[in-house]
Amino acid sequence: MNAQTPTHRLRAGMVGIGMIFDETYRPFFERTHAEGMYDRRFGDVAVELSAVASRTGKRTDAYLKSAGNRIGPCQNFHGNHSVAEMLKGGIDFGCVATPDDRHFEASQAILSAGAHLLVEKPSVLTLSELDQLIELANEKNVLAKVVYHKLLDPDHKKMRTLVVDDVLQHVNNGYCSLLEPKSISGSQFAEWIKGRNPGTYVAVHYIKLIDFSFGGKLKTITATGQRGIVGPASGNTWDSTQMRMIYEYPTGREAAFDIHTSWVTPDNFPGYVEQEVQFRFDNGLWNGHSRKRGVECTVEGKTPFTLKNSMNNHYNGTFCEPWGERSQRGYGIEVLERFAREVAYVEYAGSKEDRSKRLAEMRKLNYNDLAADRQTVAAVQALEAILAHAADGEPDCVVRVNDEQGGLVLYRPGSQEPEVLYSGSV
Ligand SMILES: NC(=O)c1ccc[n+]([C@@H]2O[C@H](COP(=O)([O-])OP(=O)(O)OC[C@H]3O[C@@H](n4cnc5c(N)ncnc54)[C@H](O)[C@@H]3O)[C@@H](O)[C@H]2O)c1
Repeated sequence: MNAQTPTHRLRAGMVGIGMIFDETYRPFFERTHAEGMYDRRFGDVAVELSAVASRTGKRTDAYLKSAGNRIGPCQNFHGNHSVAEMLKGGIDFGCVATPDDRHFEASQAILSAGAHLLVEKPSVLTLSELDQLIELANEKNVLAKVVYHKLLDPDHKKMRTLVVDDVLQHVNNGYCSLLEPKSISGSQFAEWIKGRNPGTYVAVHYIKLIDFSFGGKLKTITATGQRGIVGPASGNTWDSTQMRMIYEYPTGREAAFDIHTSWVTPDNFPGYVEQEVQFRFDNGLWNGHSRKRGVECTVEGKTPFTLKNSMNNHYNGTFCEPWGERSQRGYGIEVLERFAREVAYVEYAGSKEDRSKRLAEMRKLNYNDLAADRQTVAAVQALEAILAHAADGEPDCVVRVNDEQGGLVLYRPGSQEPEVLYSGSV
């Protein structure tokens, strides 16, 4: 088959090239390099990974060597000024996949350079950072979006569809859990794990799922956790966390949600990343379980270490397609492609004069727009503050949203003095 010459081009820059790059961005960029991206509205668009910025540049080097002609020319920037250097070369959109407490600066730099932004979840850790990014995106007329790939998981999409169609009516309460093995905290994330917790970066998937699927107003956040495996029992690095959020709906009725996360489950537990949700409605029950929906596979000498017992073939499975081609596909990759399509739509699906209309249209997509991430970031900021107080010897704090003291207010047991975490309205 003859390849057509693309009508347009989008140059992408990547900040951070760790596990999530390998699982989702790599297959995405390799596929667009091979196939481009087409839509009748914006035509044939070449989407190329043109630069990577990271701390050491070693993984980029190794990747570029191993990728060969699966991607095009790509520059490797590393060190303290890597993001600024990458931006000097010019990119159309930038993706941020650094550890969760290092999202803000890179995101700010990308938006300031006038490029569209895609940042991994949680977008940022505080509402004031969120405000700054939203303002910058408005000023520069670009998109600022966040990756919540679990919203594209077919099971979660089906649940939300039943809610949207009023088949499942009024959520009352629910719980979600996500368990990861010790190898995640012990080796994969060892470089940045000090002072961190397994709630912020994975509970946030469920915070968003609940926020996006059921709507409502976030009212209260409480949280607790355990220490002593990843770090000292009295320190600020957490093994597992449990948080609770209370929402209120327009009818005045409330719902409570518990989210449990851990990164110290034994390495040989069968679930690997085990994910479970249960939501209870006025008229029904939704139970989702990553192992029960799927496959259990045992291979001597391989599972569960180099091959997972229960594979999530929906997320980013590698396949030999029936037509012989090798592929890697799933919702983890689909969500990145959606964003690239949104950028291509803004830039190329019509006249320059109508660009602002297209931009406004894409900004209305609440599933990924930063402007719609307020309650999720509020919950994350509250979780971080509650855990920080607990590590400082003040457990059992409660954070309330939009009360008479401010937008996000922390209350300590036995103290009359509230701490205002964010004064504006959430
Ligand atoms: N969507 C998901 O399910 C999912 C899964 C895992 C991780 N993530 C998210 O992706 C992000 C990265 O996670 P990961 O698992 O790839 O982490 P990782 O530790 O494997 O990789 C982090 C990368 O960031 C780079 N980096 C660190 N600090 C940097 C800085 N200041 N400037 C430039 N580069 C820097 C490192 O060099 C490394 O390449 C996190 O926000 C995490 O929440 C998402």
